[in-house]
Amino acid sequence: MPWYGSHSYLNEYIRERHCRKIMEIGVYNGENAVSMVETAIQIFPPQEVEYYGFDFFSYYGSSEIGRKLEKMGCKFRLFVGNTLDTLPEAVKTLPEMDLIFIDGGKSFKVAESDWRNSRLLMHDRTGVFVHNAGFWGVRRMVENISRDKYRVKIFRALSEGSVALIKKNRIDSACTV
Ligand SMILES: C[S@@+](CC[C@H](N)C(=O)[O-])C[C@H]1O[C@@H](n2cnc3c(N)ncnc32)[C@H](O)[C@@H]1O
Repeated sequence: MPWYGSHSYLNEYIRERHCRKIMEIGVYNGENAVSMVETAIQIFPPQEVEYYGFDFFSYYGSSEIGRKLEKMGCKFRLFVGNTLDTLPEAVKTLPEMDLIFIDGGKSFKVAESDWRNSRLLMHDRTGVFVHNAGFWGVRRMVENISRDKYRVKIFRALSEGSVALIKKNRIDSACTV
């Protein structure tokens, strides 16, 4: 499935980097959430895996998605509403994440806000994946990211178009007091 559901590069990243704390902006039907958690619980006991999801949950309700995640045995929290409102509040209390998948609103305003807040939850090895990096608003957001502070790699995923992977620039963070 090109746009929804599991994304193999996310599962590979979780496997290779041993990701335990996972955040997804844009949950939709929860199939990608389940797929990422399934991958993480192959490495860690389910109760040590944490998933944080943000969406309007208007197509698929948060209770329906919650039931899917409960079956997995992981810890999870679902944030209902517009990420322009929910994310700035949530980042005040959320832990640093190992992997963040930005796949919510595609306008520049929403994509930029999602990135600006997500980056507050990055540790030195966090990978932030941005879906639909070729879409106009998302592309503009990615182009504006400081290359002094972050390494940005754009790749094409089969049948999905462009995806950006953003990591902290280690030289920069090593020099930051
Ligand atoms: C492309 S779907 C997500 C697909 C999912 N990540 C996957 O891989 O299967 C985009 C989702 O983002 C949500 N969304 C779009 N704009 C949003 C916003 N401003 N705040 C919260 N959710 C938003 C939509 O409700 C939709 O469920």
